[in-house]
Amino acid sequence: MIHEKNAILFKNTYASLKGRHNALERLEIAPTDAPIIAQIWGKNPEHFAECAAALEGLGFAGVDLNFGCPDKNVNKTGGGAAMIKTPELAVSCFRNAKEHTNLPVSIKTRLGWSQVDEFREWLPCLLNEHPAALTVHLRTKKEMSKVSAHFELIPEIVKMRNEISPETKFIINGDIKDRAFALKMSEDYPEVDGFMIGRGVFINPYCFTEHEATTEELMELLKLHLDLYEKQIDKYGVSYEPIKHFYKIYINNFPGAAELRAKLMDTHSINEARDIIEECKI
Ligand SMILES: Cc1cc2nc3c(=O)[nH]c(=O)nc-3n(C[C@H](O)[C@H](O)[C@H](O)COP(=O)(O)O)c2cc1C
Repeated sequence: MIHEKNAILFKNTYASLKGRHNALERLEIAPTDAPIIAQIWGKNPEHFAECAAALEGLGFAGVDLNFGCPDKNVNKTGGGAAMIKTPELAVSCFRNAKEHTNLPVSIKTRLGWSQVDEFREWLPCLLNEHPAALTVHLRTKKEMSKVSAHFELIPEIVKMRNEISPETKFIINGDIKDRAFALKMSEDYPEVDGFMIGRGVFINPYCFTEHEATTEELMELLKLHLDLYEKQIDKYGVSYEPIKHFYKIYINNFPGAAELRAKLMDTHSINEARDIIEECKI
Protein backbone atom coordinates (compact mmCIF):
# COMPACT_ATOMS: atom_id res chain seq x y z
CA MET A 1 0.00 0.00 0.00
CA ILE A 2 1.42 3.32 -0.98
CA HIS A 3 1.41 6.14 1.55
CA GLU A 4 -1.14 8.80 0.61
CA LYS A 5 1.31 11.68 0.67
CA ASN A 6 3.47 9.78 -1.79
CA ALA A 7 0.82 8.97 -4.35
CA ILE A 8 1.62 11.81 -6.73
CA LEU A 9 5.33 11.38 -6.33
CA PHE A 10 4.90 7.70 -7.08
CA LYS A 11 2.98 8.45 -10.25
CA ASN A 12 5.70 10.82 -11.45
CA THR A 13 8.47 8.47 -10.52
CA TYR A 14 6.77 5.61 -12.24
CA ALA A 15 6.54 7.63 -15.42
CA SER A 16 10.11 8.89 -15.31
CA LEU A 17 11.69 5.57 -14.36
CA LYS A 18 9.70 3.78 -17.00
CA GLY A 19 10.67 6.32 -19.59
CA ARG A 20 14.34 6.26 -18.75
CA HIS A 21 15.40 2.67 -18.23
CA ASN A 22 12.28 0.62 -17.80
CA ALA A 23 13.69 0.23 -14.30
CA LEU A 24 10.37 -0.28 -12.59
CA GLU A 25 9.48 -3.22 -14.76
CA ARG A 26 12.71 -4.88 -13.71
CA LEU A 27 11.84 -4.33 -10.05
CA GLU A 28 8.89 -6.71 -10.35
CA ILE A 29 8.78 -9.08 -7.37
CA ALA A 30 8.20 -12.76 -8.04
CA PRO A 31 5.98 -14.65 -5.57
CA THR A 32 8.31 -15.70 -2.80
CA ASP A 33 8.18 -16.57 0.86
CA ALA A 34 11.04 -14.24 1.67
CA PRO A 35 10.65 -10.49 2.18
CA ILE A 36 12.69 -8.62 -0.41
CA ILE A 37 14.57 -5.41 0.30
CA ALA A 38 15.31 -3.14 -2.66
CA GLN A 39 18.71 -1.51 -2.71
CA ILE A 40 19.19 1.88 -4.35
CA TRP A 41 22.15 4.13 -5.02
CA GLY A 42 22.66 7.63 -6.36
CA LYS A 43 23.66 11.02 -5.05
CA ASN A 44 20.63 13.20 -5.58
CA PRO A 45 18.56 13.47 -2.38
CA GLU A 46 15.37 14.15 -4.38
CA HIS A 47 15.80 10.91 -6.30
CA PHE A 48 16.18 8.99 -3.04
CA ALA A 49 12.85 10.45 -1.91
CA GLU A 50 11.09 9.54 -5.16
CA CYS A 51 12.55 6.08 -5.27
CA ALA A 52 11.81 5.23 -1.64
CA ALA A 53 8.22 6.30 -2.18
CA ALA A 54 7.88 4.27 -5.36
CA LEU A 55 9.35 1.14 -3.78
CA GLU A 56 6.75 1.18 -1.05
CA GLY A 57 4.07 0.85 -3.69
CA LEU A 58 5.81 -2.09 -5.31
CA GLY A 59 5.64 -4.49 -2.38
CA PHE A 60 9.19 -4.34 -1.06
CA ALA A 61 9.79 -4.97 2.63
CA GLY A 62 12.46 -2.30 2.99
CA VAL A 63 14.80 0.11 1.26
CA ASP A 64 18.56 -0.20 1.56
CA LEU A 65 20.87 2.64 0.53
CA ASN A 66 24.11 1.54 -1.07
CA PHE A 67 26.91 3.74 0.27
CA GLY A 68 29.57 1.08 -0.31
CA CYS A 69 29.72 0.18 -3.99
CA PRO A 70 33.32 0.52 -5.29
CA ASP A 71 32.44 0.52 -9.01
CA LYS A 72 34.41 3.28 -10.77
CA ASN A 73 31.46 4.42 -12.86
CA VAL A 74 29.22 4.63 -9.80
CA ASN A 75 31.86 6.46 -7.74
CA LYS A 76 32.54 8.93 -10.57
CA THR A 77 28.97 10.16 -10.19
CA GLY A 78 29.45 10.59 -6.43
CA GLY A 79 27.36 7.51 -5.58
CA GLY A 80 28.11 4.24 -3.77
CA ALA A 81 31.27 4.31 -1.64
CA ALA A 82 31.98 7.90 -2.80
CA MET A 83 29.27 8.92 -0.32
CA ILE A 84 31.85 8.25 2.42
CA LYS A 85 33.64 11.38 1.21
CA THR A 86 30.47 13.51 1.36
CA PRO A 87 28.84 12.58 4.68
CA GLU A 88 26.47 15.56 4.69
CA LEU A 89 25.11 14.54 1.32
CA ALA A 90 24.78 10.94 2.52
CA VAL A 91 22.76 12.10 5.52
CA SER A 92 20.57 14.22 3.30
CA CYS A 93 19.89 11.27 0.96
CA PHE A 94 19.04 9.07 3.95
CA ARG A 95 16.68 11.65 5.48
CA ASN A 96 14.91 12.18 2.16
CA ALA A 97 14.39 8.46 1.69
CA LYS A 98 13.16 7.98 5.24
CA GLU A 99 10.73 10.90 5.09
CA HIS A 100 9.05 9.54 1.97
CA THR A 101 8.35 5.96 2.91
CA ASN A 102 6.89 3.97 5.75
CA LEU A 103 9.27 1.14 4.95
CA PRO A 104 12.33 0.57 7.13
CA VAL A 105 15.35 2.30 5.58
CA SER A 106 18.78 0.74 6.06
CA ILE A 107 22.31 1.46 4.88
CA LYS A 108 25.12 -0.69 3.53
CA THR A 109 28.60 0.80 3.57
CA ARG A 110 32.32 0.21 4.08
CA LEU A 111 34.74 1.23 6.82
CA GLY A 112 36.08 4.14 4.84
CA TRP A 113 37.24 5.33 1.45
CA SER A 114 41.01 4.88 1.76
CA GLN A 115 41.82 4.51 5.47
CA VAL A 116 40.39 1.94 7.84
CA ASP A 117 40.16 4.39 10.75
CA GLU A 118 37.72 6.61 8.82
CA PHE A 119 35.00 4.39 10.33
CA ARG A 120 35.38 6.24 13.65
CA GLU A 121 33.80 9.34 12.11
CA TRP A 122 31.79 7.88 9.24
CA LEU A 123 29.77 5.23 11.09
CA PRO A 124 28.65 7.54 13.96
CA CYS A 125 27.49 10.01 11.33
CA LEU A 126 25.21 7.30 9.90
CA LEU A 127 24.16 5.89 13.29
CA ASN A 128 23.03 9.37 14.36
CA GLU A 129 20.31 9.01 11.70
CA HIS A 130 19.04 5.79 13.33
CA PRO A 131 18.82 3.57 10.26
CA ALA A 132 16.78 0.37 10.68
CA ALA A 133 19.94 -1.59 9.94
CA LEU A 134 23.55 -0.79 9.20
CA THR A 135 25.52 -3.32 7.20
CA VAL A 136 29.26 -2.75 7.32
CA HIS A 137 31.47 -4.41 4.74
CA LEU A 138 34.55 -4.59 6.93
CA ARG A 139 36.96 -3.21 4.32
CA THR A 140 37.64 0.21 2.79
CA LYS A 141 36.77 1.06 -0.79
CA LYS A 142 40.52 1.15 -1.56
CA GLU A 143 40.93 -2.37 -0.21
CA MET A 144 38.15 -3.60 -2.53
CA SER A 145 37.92 -7.31 -1.55
CA LYS A 146 41.68 -7.90 -1.75
CA VAL A 147 42.49 -8.06 1.97
CA SER A 148 40.90 -9.99 4.82
CA ALA A 149 37.84 -8.39 6.39
CA HIS A 150 38.70 -6.46 9.58
CA PHE A 151 36.85 -8.65 12.06
CA GLU A 152 39.01 -7.19 14.84
CA LEU A 153 36.97 -3.95 14.63
CA ILE A 154 33.63 -5.61 15.35
CA PRO A 155 33.66 -4.98 19.15
CA GLU A 156 34.37 -1.27 18.64
CA ILE A 157 31.56 -0.89 16.10
CA VAL A 158 29.15 -2.81 18.35
CA LYS A 159 29.98 -0.36 21.15
CA MET A 160 29.31 2.62 18.84
CA ARG A 161 25.98 1.13 17.79
CA ASN A 162 24.98 0.42 21.42
CA GLU A 163 25.81 3.97 22.47
CA ILE A 164 24.39 5.93 19.53
CA SER A 165 21.51 3.87 18.11
CA PRO A 166 20.83 0.66 20.04
CA GLU A 167 17.72 0.00 17.91
CA THR A 168 19.77 -0.21 14.69
CA LYS A 169 20.47 -3.79 13.61
CA PHE A 170 24.18 -4.22 13.02
CA ILE A 171 25.03 -6.59 10.17
CA ILE A 172 28.56 -7.50 9.23
CA ASN A 173 29.81 -8.42 5.78
CA GLY A 174 33.12 -9.57 4.32
CA ASP A 175 34.59 -13.08 4.19
CA ILE A 176 31.46 -14.73 5.63
CA LYS A 177 31.54 -17.70 3.32
CA ASP A 178 28.53 -19.72 4.45
CA ARG A 179 25.90 -20.36 7.11
CA ALA A 180 28.15 -22.54 9.26
CA PHE A 181 30.77 -19.78 9.37
CA ALA A 182 28.11 -17.19 10.22
CA LEU A 183 26.84 -19.36 13.08
CA LYS A 184 30.35 -19.64 14.46
CA MET A 185 30.77 -15.84 14.17
CA SER A 186 27.48 -15.32 16.01
CA GLU A 187 28.95 -17.25 18.95
CA ASP A 188 32.08 -15.11 18.90
CA TYR A 189 30.15 -11.84 18.46
CA PRO A 190 26.72 -12.33 20.06
CA GLU A 191 25.81 -8.62 19.79
CA VAL A 192 26.03 -8.65 15.99
CA ASP A 193 22.50 -8.99 14.61
CA GLY A 194 23.18 -10.36 11.16
CA PHE A 195 25.78 -11.82 8.83
CA MET A 196 25.74 -11.07 5.12
CA ILE A 197 27.22 -13.53 2.65
CA GLY A 198 28.76 -12.10 -0.53
CA ARG A 199 31.04 -14.09 -2.80
CA GLY A 200 30.37 -17.28 -0.84
CA VAL A 201 27.44 -17.88 -3.16
CA PHE A 202 29.86 -18.12 -6.09
CA ILE A 203 31.56 -21.06 -4.39
CA ASN A 204 28.50 -22.80 -3.05
CA PRO A 205 25.00 -21.81 -4.15
CA TYR A 206 23.68 -23.65 -1.08
CA CYS A 207 25.80 -21.49 1.26
CA PHE A 208 22.69 -20.12 3.00
CA THR A 209 21.82 -23.61 4.22
CA GLU A 210 23.72 -26.46 5.83
CA HIS A 211 22.88 -28.75 2.94
CA GLU A 212 25.80 -30.34 1.12
CA ALA A 213 24.64 -30.48 -2.46
CA THR A 214 25.39 -33.45 -4.68
CA THR A 215 26.65 -33.05 -8.25
CA GLU A 216 23.18 -34.04 -9.51
CA GLU A 217 21.49 -31.36 -7.39
CA LEU A 218 23.93 -28.73 -8.63
CA MET A 219 23.19 -29.72 -12.23
CA GLU A 220 19.44 -29.49 -11.58
CA LEU A 221 19.99 -26.05 -10.06
CA LEU A 222 22.00 -24.99 -13.10
CA LYS A 223 19.14 -26.10 -15.38
CA LEU A 224 16.67 -24.09 -13.31
CA HIS A 225 18.91 -21.02 -13.43
CA LEU A 226 19.27 -21.41 -17.20
CA ASP A 227 15.47 -21.41 -17.50
CA LEU A 228 15.21 -18.28 -15.36
CA TYR A 229 18.00 -16.54 -17.24
CA GLU A 230 16.32 -17.36 -20.55
CA LYS A 231 13.26 -15.45 -19.33
CA GLN A 232 15.51 -12.41 -18.71
CA ILE A 233 16.90 -12.72 -22.23
CA ASP A 234 13.41 -12.97 -23.74
CA LYS A 235 11.96 -10.16 -21.65
CA TYR A 236 14.78 -7.62 -21.50
CA GLY A 237 17.09 -8.66 -24.32
CA VAL A 238 20.06 -9.16 -21.98
CA SER A 239 23.10 -10.92 -23.41
CA TYR A 240 23.70 -14.68 -22.97
CA GLU A 241 27.45 -14.20 -22.36
CA PRO A 242 27.56 -13.07 -18.66
CA ILE A 243 25.99 -16.27 -17.34
CA LYS A 244 28.99 -18.22 -18.68
CA HIS A 245 31.16 -16.76 -15.88
CA PHE A 246 29.03 -18.64 -13.39
CA TYR A 247 29.11 -22.19 -14.80
CA LYS A 248 32.06 -23.04 -12.55
CA ILE A 249 29.80 -22.61 -9.50
CA TYR A 250 27.75 -25.64 -10.48
CA ILE A 251 30.25 -27.73 -12.41
CA ASN A 252 33.24 -28.71 -10.36
CA ASN A 253 34.71 -31.51 -8.28
CA PHE A 254 33.72 -34.45 -10.44
CA PRO A 255 35.57 -36.35 -13.17
CA GLY A 256 35.08 -34.55 -16.48
CA ALA A 257 34.00 -31.25 -14.89
CA ALA A 258 36.79 -29.23 -16.51
CA GLU A 259 35.98 -30.64 -19.98
CA LEU A 260 32.28 -29.95 -19.54
CA ARG A 261 32.98 -26.38 -18.45
CA ALA A 262 35.26 -25.84 -21.46
CA LYS A 263 32.50 -27.04 -23.81
CA LEU A 264 29.97 -24.73 -22.16
CA MET A 265 32.33 -21.76 -22.50
CA ASP A 266 32.15 -22.28 -26.27
CA THR A 267 28.37 -21.96 -26.39
CA HIS A 268 26.43 -18.96 -27.67
CA SER A 269 22.91 -19.60 -26.43
CA ILE A 270 20.94 -21.15 -23.58
CA ASN A 271 19.69 -23.91 -25.88
CA GLU A 272 23.24 -24.85 -26.89
CA ALA A 273 24.19 -25.02 -23.19
CA ARG A 274 21.13 -27.14 -22.38
CA ASP A 275 21.98 -29.62 -25.17
CA ILE A 276 25.52 -30.08 -23.87
CA ILE A 277 24.31 -30.60 -20.30
CA GLU A 278 21.73 -33.17 -21.46
CA GLU A 279 24.35 -35.02 -23.51
CA CYS A 280 26.69 -35.43 -20.53
CA LYS A 281 23.91 -37.19 -18.54
CA ILE A 282 24.94 -36.36 -15.00
C1 LIG B 1 29.64 -9.50 -8.67
C2 LIG B 1 29.34 -8.74 -7.39
C3 LIG B 1 28.22 -7.90 -7.34
C4 LIG B 1 27.91 -7.20 -6.18
N1 LIG B 1 26.80 -6.38 -6.15
C5 LIG B 1 26.47 -5.76 -4.99
C6 LIG B 1 25.30 -4.96 -4.90
O1 LIG B 1 24.56 -4.77 -5.87
N2 LIG B 1 25.00 -4.41 -3.71
C7 LIG B 1 25.79 -4.59 -2.61
O2 LIG B 1 25.47 -4.07 -1.54
N3 LIG B 1 26.91 -5.31 -2.66
C8 LIG B 1 27.25 -5.90 -3.82
N4 LIG B 1 28.41 -6.66 -3.88
C9 LIG B 1 29.29 -6.73 -2.70
C10 LIG B 1 28.93 -7.88 -1.77
O3 LIG B 1 27.62 -7.73 -1.29
C11 LIG B 1 29.86 -7.90 -0.56
O4 LIG B 1 29.78 -6.66 0.10
C12 LIG B 1 31.31 -8.15 -0.92
O5 LIG B 1 31.45 -9.16 -1.90
C13 LIG B 1 32.12 -8.51 0.34
O6 LIG B 1 31.65 -9.70 0.92
P1 LIG B 1 32.44 -11.10 0.72
O7 LIG B 1 33.85 -10.89 1.21
O8 LIG B 1 31.66 -12.08 1.55
O9 LIG B 1 32.38 -11.38 -0.74
C14 LIG B 1 28.73 -7.35 -5.03
C15 LIG B 1 29.86 -8.21 -5.08
C16 LIG B 1 30.15 -8.89 -6.25
C17 LIG B 1 31.37 -9.79 -6.26
